Amino acid sequence: MAPLVWLITGCSSGFGNQFVYNILARGDKVVATARDLSKIQQLKQLGVSTFQLDITDSQSSINATIAKVLAEHGRIDVLINNAAYIAIGTWEDLSYEDWLAQFDTNVFGTIKVTKAILPHFRERKTGTMVFISSLSGWIGHAGCSAYAGSKFALEGIVEGLHAETAHLGLKTLLIEPGRFRTKLLSSGNMIARTSDIPDYAEKSRAQMEGLVGEDQKQPGDPAKLVEIVLDLVREEGVAQGIEVPFRLPLGFDCYTDVKEKCEATLATLETWRNVATSTDMET
Ligand SMILES: NC(=O)c1ccc[n+]([C@@H]2O[C@H](COP(=O)([O-])OP(=O)(O)OC[C@H]3O[C@@H](n4cnc5c(N)ncnc54)[C@H](OP(=O)(O)O)[C@@H]3O)[C@@H](O)[C@H]2O)c1
Repeated sequence: MAPLVWLITGCSSGFGNQFVYNILARGDKVVATARDLSKIQQLKQLGVSTFQLDITDSQSSINATIAKVLAEHGRIDVLINNAAYIAIGTWEDLSYEDWLAQFDTNVFGTIKVTKAILPHFRERKTGTMVFISSLSGWIGHAGCSAYAGSKFALEGIVEGLHAETAHLGLKTLLIEPGRFRTKLLSSGNMIARTSDIPDYAEKSRAQMEGLVGEDQKQPGDPAKLVEIVLDLVREEGVAQGIEVPFRLPLGFDCYTDVKEKCEATLATLETWRNVATSTDMET
């Protein structure tokens, strides 16, 4: 296989940073992006092509960055929409601005980067779009509604994109990690609003303490997830000779929780079948 050219958002830490090393190890080319270029200086020293890209920038600014990447590399084969952050707090404790900012990055930023690359993929009738979703794209946990909402939104819009573009030869992959040891829960990256509202305060404080305690103790190994994603995109290793799914939960916790939700949903459908199917017009 000819070396692929990958573009990744949010390469300063976590999965994004890990992707760069593992892609290089497979002999492919990487365009690493970050909103603060100084954070990926060390990648430049490895010979990686680096570009400044804040996914909340305007569509025209993101289009211009992608045009520069294409001028330098000639093509992009794989886009990894990885950049995002988590906002923790109850509905009432997150401000309207907190909610907007969560969706601006996790949803609208991802839309803008993908829209900037889609014309290139359509023109070449090839291209793979990987979206890093989450277990929170399946389950809304207390104090995690804004993040879950952004990931549920991602699940829906990416499912639609897949349906719109599969006939053009484009591939779409939704990856749903459980809890992985990255900087997602670090104080610099996570936005956390502890509640002073008596009805929530105790639970909120316990949740914040839990998250601080979980940081850097999450069970998931980012390097293992990244290797699987590379296999899925390159159709080798664990993906050799088997149809690559559109959506894949990764992590024991994610597998267990998603299975439980699917089983509970199937049980509800069966128990309520007669009611659920009773609402059509008579004629
Ligand atoms: N780790 C987990 O347990 C887990 C579970 C499910 C899903 N995920 C998803 O995995 C993806 C990567 O997160 P991670 O776990 O690797 O966490 P991370 O270590 O915090 O990495 C997040 C990356 O996103 C970047 N970023 C945030 N806002 C950005 C913006 N506006 N423009 C460009 N880059 C931006 C950050 O850059 P800065 O350094 O500039 O802030 C950082 O490089 C996210 O989509 C996250 O939702 C993670």
